[in-house]
Amino acid sequence: MAGTTSNPSAGLGTCPKTKGNATAVVGMQWGDEGKGKLVDLLSAEHDVVVRYNGGANAGHSVVIAGQRYALHLIPAGILSKGTLAVIGNGVVLDPDTLLKELDTLQSRGVDTSGLVISANAHVVMPYHKDEDAAREDTLKSGAGDSPLTEIGTTRRGIGPAYADKVQRAAAVRARDLLRPELLRARITQACRFKAPILGKQPDVEAMVATATAWGKRLAPMIRETTYLIHDQLRAGKRVMFEGANGTLLDVDHGTFPYVTGSSTGTAGIANGAGVPPTILTSAIGVMKAYSTRVGTGPMPTELSGDIAHRIRERGREYGTTTGRPRRVGWLDVVALRYAAMLNGITSLSVMLLDVLAGFETLRVCTAYQLGDGSTTDRFAADGAELAAAKPIYTDLPGFMDEIGAARSLATLPTPARAYLDFIQEKVGVPIGFVSIGPDREQTIIVGA
Ligand code: IMO
Ligand code: MG
Repeated sequence: MAGTTSNPSAGLGTCPKTKGNATAVVGMQWGDEGKGKLVDLLSAEHDVVVRYNGGANAGHSVVIAGQRYALHLIPAGILSKGTLAVIGNGVVLDPDTLLKELDTLQSRGVDTSGLVISANAHVVMPYHKDEDAAREDTLKSGAGDSPLTEIGTTRRGIGPAYADKVQRAAAVRARDLLRPELLRARITQACRFKAPILGKQPDVEAMVATATAWGKRLAPMIRETTYLIHDQLRAGKRVMFEGANGTLLDVDHGTFPYVTGSSTGTAGIANGAGVPPTILTSAIGVMKAYSTRVGTGPMPTELSGDIAHRIRERGREYGTTTGRPRRVGWLDVVALRYAAMLNGITSLSVMLLDVLAGFETLRVCTAYQLGDGSTTDRFAADGAELAAAKPIYTDLPGFMDEIGAARSLATLPTPARAYLDFIQEKVGVPIGFVSIGPDREQTIIVGA
């Protein structure tokens, strides 16, 4: 209904926590760190929120006044009134998911008029999802003795869409949805390339019709976003770059090949949004108080049994995008130190600390033991190498009482504070935020 939209988020209001005009919010682990909550918190002090990587593999959930909003493609900043929400050129755009998300937000009264899509964002086509699934199934069926297992992707077509971007010839960009002749030619060509992989000839006409319909609905939102972002910065507006996925899933620096298809960290911002690498004035690293991972690939601190079960249930560790139960483990500061180094993190946001209440002992991995018996405090950006690493733990006393009602560091139990101090010291970056529950009020802003 016209005139009745209202955006739920009022953000932090008068509590500036970021310096300068360009803030990055990135995940430091394997995704699902709670980036959506932090973006929502900081949205009041930013005018523009930009997604620069990934696609509908992301699942950013925000709880505002007890209401949950789950977003896959639209920047979580859209929930804040007046925010310009940009889907940058580095994102792979799934129009189906995007339009569904738009419809859902609009039906809940959220003003989505601030959404802008880069004309250069690549489009995830139906054959990309089929290809993603076909490749995963082939890997799975060929597993046997092979060292090549499936990646455990979200099957959202992310890898194939990025691969076609690099292949160039048959890639479809958002701007092509508005150019009927070129669109038809590209889709026709792409289908010829895909047929052998899919074992069938995709229906070109049906796909052209679908893509044309997407173009009609998306046309008002498709823009040249590089100049748009620079114009905003020049006008003194504050811009936040919302990372998707996590540092350890980065295509270059993560646990390859068990990674996603994009540059997930701060380095991805420059290419994925069209800004210089020197632009950032704050880089907030979002991390869980423990570890989780979805899909295959090494995770040195992985737990099973009762402890894993308790963390999974208390943390509701089931995927926002695929519903898969997440693998859980103790905190790994080797990985966090690596992520802080790669991204130039300026402050940490520790999420889901409340989940750890009730454990006598909290274990933190501070080094790895390697196959040859040596130890290291360095991460390995390689799936096979990291798989051989055994965690070396430091044990810290746990806290038994629930902490969801705390509103300052001083009101946290002493062992919880000691746990945070340990993280800060070992990662070497100060903590700026501590989340102790899903609601916005359940956030301790350090020093506020
Ligand atoms: P957010 O933004 C958790 C994981 C997948 C899989 C691997 C590759 O919610 O933190 P892909 O479909 O990207 O080719 O899958 O990466 N993955 C994520 N895991 N959170 C995410 O995003 C993820 N994005 C990708 O589970 O292991
Ligand atoms: Mg997720």
